[in-house]
Amino acid sequence: MSQLKSIVRGVGSYLPAEVLTNGDMAKIVETSDDWIVGRTGIKQRHRAAAGEFTSHLATHAASAALDDAGLLPADIDLIVLATATPDLTFPATAVQVQANLGISHGYAFDLQAVCSGFVYALTVADAQLKAGLARRALVIGAETFSRILDWTDRSTCVLFGDGAGAVVIEAVPVVEAGTRGIITSHLRADGRHKAKLYVDGGVSTTQTAGHLRMEGRDVYKHAVAMITDVIEASFAAADVGAADLDWFVPHQANLRIIDASAKKLGIAHDKVVVTVDRHGNTSAASIPLALDVAVKDGRIKRGDLVLLEAMGGGFTWGAVLLRW
Ligand code: ACO
Repeated sequence: MSQLKSIVRGVGSYLPAEVLTNGDMAKIVETSDDWIVGRTGIKQRHRAAAGEFTSHLATHAASAALDDAGLLPADIDLIVLATATPDLTFPATAVQVQANLGISHGYAFDLQAVCSGFVYALTVADAQLKAGLARRALVIGAETFSRILDWTDRSTCVLFGDGAGAVVIEAVPVVEAGTRGIITSHLRADGRHKAKLYVDGGVSTTQTAGHLRMEGRDVYKHAVAMITDVIEASFAAADVGAADLDWFVPHQANLRIIDASAKKLGIAHDKVVVTVDRHGNTSAASIPLALDVAVKDGRIKRGDLVLLEAMGGGFTWGAVLLRW
């Protein structure tokens, strides 16, 4: 069998209709547009409607990615869905999406790495394709964080939003792919930090979904160092540097973290895709949402060198370097 590589065939996303501006947040908790924009860069976020679940958001994003790829659901034989906010404890939200799309072959599963979920899912799906276990995968990041926020805690509820993004990747022989496709991935985890960002409920502990709790300062303190660690590993593995990048698409948690990471790595400001102002932090959905925005507005083009990076609860962190 010839050696395989995963190339991106399409991208899509979905945001729930309701928009909550910082002004709206100030009606819920004691906060202000100045505080939120100054500390995070966030101006608004979307919130899923009652009865709108993570699987609904994911299915919309997946359908958009399939349209963009010019493919049908039947062409997909793997779904990897990154989420920390599944519809149900089981089965996986991925199988609900599979059923919604009318697919009954292949395999589907969820992956939980919180905000690093999409980078983890893309890396896992890439490995499945390269091993010949599947030919075309939908890799989805989808979240309804509004359901696990403590809406009385101003230090966390202003930061997050709901949404979904997806890419279709396809295994092609290396000779056909040329320079396109996933070049290198680097994943990390360090569970010693789990108390800094977690949800205080769960099936085995409280039998409740729980609420998000975060030591914001501690997360901030670690974020830039962890982000630069995996990016430097990616640069070294691919023998490239910041100047070779066309686009940097980081996890959209906080504009200050994004700016500080780009600065430390020497990535030019105009190569950084930023959507946190419009979407807030959508956890596993943030990178594919940002990718979709930058592809659809014409910034990311075929052949561009794109770096994805994320860091989140656990801590988990990781980076994927690919040629679009
Ligand atoms: N509006 C107004 N005031 C607020 C708000 C709010 N929404 N939230 C907190 N404050 C107040 C606090 O009560 C505190 O007041 P005090 O000084 O009177 O006690 C003051 O603002 C400062 O609070 P800090 O928590 O120290 O604020 P900080 O400057 O650290 O900013 C923030 C908080 C934005 C969360 C910051 O720590 C941060 O960016 N952390 C990174 C965490 C992050 O982005 N996490 C996302 C998930 S993880 C990930 O995706 C990587």
